[in-house]
Amino acid sequence: MITTVQQHIQQQQADITAASGTFSLLLGGITLASKMIEAKIRSAGLSDVLGAFGQTNVQGEAQQKLDVFANEALLHCLGVRDMVAALVSEEDEEPVTFARSSENGKYIVVFDPLDGSSNIDVNVNVGTIFSILKRQPEGDLDASILQPGFKQVAAGYVVYGPSTVLVYTTGNGVHSFTLDPTIGAFVLTTERMQMPQQGPYYSTNEANAAQWPAEYRSYVDLLRGGSEGAYSSRYIGSLVADFHRTLLKGGIFLYPPTAKQPGGKLRLLYEANPLAFIAEQAGGKASSGAGRILDIKPEGIHQRTPFMVGSAREMELLEQVLAR
Ligand code: AHG
Ligand code: MN
Ligand code: MN
Repeated sequence: MITTVQQHIQQQQADITAASGTFSLLLGGITLASKMIEAKIRSAGLSDVLGAFGQTNVQGEAQQKLDVFANEALLHCLGVRDMVAALVSEEDEEPVTFARSSENGKYIVVFDPLDGSSNIDVNVNVGTIFSILKRQPEGDLDASILQPGFKQVAAGYVVYGPSTVLVYTTGNGVHSFTLDPTIGAFVLTTERMQMPQQGPYYSTNEANAAQWPAEYRSYVDLLRGGSEGAYSSRYIGSLVADFHRTLLKGGIFLYPPTAKQPGGKLRLLYEANPLAFIAEQAGGKASSGAGRILDIKPEGIHQRTPFMVGSAREMELLEQVLAR
């Protein structure tokens, strides 16, 4: 008998006695948008959605047509759900807010609509990353958006690859679902995923190594040296795919500070925080190099952070090397 993600989230909500219906409806907005994005990606070469959109986004990056499509799909599918108070997207400079009463607009959804944009045109895995926060009774909407990562009520991602996989947590374990195209539903494949305690891979853009602080070069040299076990290098260049492999196989993903981006490249609210929540729920760890990702108090919605995430063993070794 199959379990769809809607059924699963309702069981989860029943267990943790949170407002059940609204949350699973909210997740339904994300899964609907992800099916629209998946359909577009599958036929990308056949319709005019490849290539650049011709504008740059708030990140100063050339928007790809699929970035724009994915963003619009999520804004639409979530915007029509009245439990949404605000939407924060990598592609929009400011949050999109909705004039909803506080008893309705309970949730804020933060997302990277399409992660790995540089890989779209070469048919390599890309993804969507999302993080869900609860609107706080006190303070203004910005205060509710800029909550530290340990306040997330849910987080997840969809990786569009040979199959389309949704992974999410509500703080009660990490669960994965595979889109069954014959019925158009995400079907439960693994409950309570655990990241291996040590992995065979390290994953980083080694072209930046000369720009890293020296201790990161020492760390990667240590992994290469063999004294800590035999490692292989894997780097896809789509964070969501590099993370998904790390979750399943173990090891470490690193995007250290560089001379060009001393504050890191990856974004705290919609890349590091959701993946850090999932990593910790699966027995892994996530660090900025200066501390736990989930403890960072955000100052801005597009704030960047150095981001290292992975198995307990590799992350503890990194902490030791950075503390020297
Ligand atoms: P996005 O496509 O959402 O802008 O994210 C791209 C990110 C992330 O997916 C990936 O890990 C990283 O950029 C790759 O950066 P480099 O090309 O500098 O290695
Ligand atoms: Mn991204
Ligand atoms: Mn993106």
